[in-house]
Amino acid sequence: MAACTAWIRALVLAGGIGAALLPSSAFAQAVAADAGIPIESDLVKSKCGGCHKPDANNRMTRISYRRASPENWERTIERMVTINKAAVSAADARAIVKYLADHNGLAPSEARPIAFEFERRLIEWTYDGDKDVATLCSGCHAFSRVMSERRTKDEWAGLVSMHRGYYPLTDNQPILNGSGFRRSRSLPPEETDKRQPMEKAIDYFAKTFPLVTADWTEWTSAVTPANLGGRWAVTANIPGKGPAYGEMTVTADASPDTFVTKTTMTVAKTGETVSRTGKALIYTGYQWRGRGADAGKPDEPWREVMFVERDRTEMWGRWFTGAYDEIGIDVKLAKISGSPMVLGAGQLALKRGGSASVTIFGANLPATLAPGDVSLGAGITVSGVAVANGVVTARVAVAADAKAGPRDVVVAGVVKPSSLVVYDKVDGVRVLPRAGLARTGGAVFPKGFQQFEAMAFANGPDGKPNTRDDWPLGLVDAKWGVEEYSATFNDDDLKYVGTIDAKTGFFTPALDGPNPARSGNRNNIGDLWITADYTPEGAAEPIRARAQIVVAPPVYMRWMASEVGK
Ligand code: HEC
Ligand code: HEC
Repeated sequence: MAACTAWIRALVLAGGIGAALLPSSAFAQAVAADAGIPIESDLVKSKCGGCHKPDANNRMTRISYRRASPENWERTIERMVTINKAAVSAADARAIVKYLADHNGLAPSEARPIAFEFERRLIEWTYDGDKDVATLCSGCHAFSRVMSERRTKDEWAGLVSMHRGYYPLTDNQPILNGSGFRRSRSLPPEETDKRQPMEKAIDYFAKTFPLVTADWTEWTSAVTPANLGGRWAVTANIPGKGPAYGEMTVTADASPDTFVTKTTMTVAKTGETVSRTGKALIYTGYQWRGRGADAGKPDEPWREVMFVERDRTEMWGRWFTGAYDEIGIDVKLAKISGSPMVLGAGQLALKRGGSASVTIFGANLPATLAPGDVSLGAGITVSGVAVANGVVTARVAVAADAKAGPRDVVVAGVVKPSSLVVYDKVDGVRVLPRAGLARTGGAVFPKGFQQFEAMAFANGPDGKPNTRDDWPLGLVDAKWGVEEYSATFNDDDLKYVGTIDAKTGFFTPALDGPNPARSGNRNNIGDLWITADYTPEGAAEPIRARAQIVVAPPVYMRWMASEVGK
């Protein structure tokens, strides 16, 4: 009972319901914010309590004073087992991660800005808060790992001590440069912050990422069981292949928050179908962590990381595989109710003055349709419509004077806004990503691959290339190649670092380890230009687009094996 009162007090004092009824002195607030989250799980108490003693109010040292993502809880527990020699079986560890991610987790608003961390995306991202602290804490891992946690001030200090104790390198790195932030990035040039960088960081984290927040308080009272069972329409983007559409059936499994899944998808460009089965677990009421495998490849599961929106009608995220989680697709799922849905078209664009067959994907669409039931807007005539396996195929002619720009797709009165664009001509082709990363492997370490794709563009309303209003027109079949990216004299990377598939744009790096055939017995690392040659319809000359690839060594030290999806 006492624990309960303390917890309610903490919630209330942090600004929740009834805050106005209680004294709000700074002292009372500080005490409440640090009061800790009682641990009610017997399993956590028995497996962790030997070292993290619960007090009379079930607050366990360290554990009660921190909230974290499932990944960070997992990471900590792994360290408890490997370094601190905690005796925890894999099954118990999973149950403990589940309990702690649910009860000492992140609110949706806290996890949303760092979704890419859990989705394992390789992106460029900068923290828009304090620049000194961001520099200090993103030398070894992304700052999003820091944002995966909320702690009391003491706990932030404990984290810094843990780093200094276990990773003495931290001391040679910016954490302790002995002179404060002399060249602070967050202060004007004439001002100096005399604090040690780590002291500043601890102060900053205590204020910016405190244990108790209004959002978490609200979520803990609002959260309801994740009843995700039912049919979900899947819209995916597959690098190198473009849009894919399909359906996932989600069925409740034996224990709460667990599900089994069945997914089928069709890649619009190639017509190939994917069919998968899997399992998923929901953490904190909204964090989907699953595993799904292709029917033919049960031993090569993909991980599924998705964010479930609060109204439980939408979830989105990334499904991925590869030794570096580098192969993945972007997905968006929408709950299928009784009414018809239009998900999108099989292509991104239609050329003015041409005719085409447009495939339209949806759910619950009528089994028969007349040309009058499908519309792509003014200047586009629909001459025939067929429906097969729920996929609509419309024969369309685009008038030479049809207005260029994004078009809505309408099927049987259901509108999907901006589904494709009407354009005049291909103004350029871009290779995506513009800078890729692969890792040598195959001998001792696994290879890290990179998929490239060639996207055609029209210049858009401003008529200028490479601006925000450009229209992507879809992936084109380019002829892929590599060229030397001259970084040193007699650069010979072309011969050694890897190859690209001329048809698919899939880059495969060379073997890891020293290569006696290479001068200085060097590793097969380096950088190259990736080239894509594409000849638009009617053009005499191909357009060439380029991107860069860096072929790096393997990651020799892995700190974390991801289990949270199991
Ligand atoms: C054998 C003793 C032992 C057991 C059992 C143990 N721990 Fe720890 N724990 C430690 C020590 C020592 C530290 C401080 C060093 C560190 O962070 O690794 C620590 C630190 C922590 C921290 C703070 C880490 C941080 O990031 O600042 C958390 C949270 C934690 N433990 C959780 C747990 C959980 C959950 C369990 C049960 C699965 C557990 N511990 C079991 C010894 C233990
Ligand atoms: C010298 C490299 C290095 C620097 C600099 C560094 N970290 Fe870390 N950090 C690590 C490593 C390695 C781990 C993984 C520890 C583990 O789980 O065994 C880690 C783990 C973490 C975790 C997860 C905690 C847990 O219990 O596993 C957090 C949070 C974190 N770091 C925050 C920070 C903050 C805040 C800073 C800046 C003050 C920082 N890191 C700077 C190397 C670094």
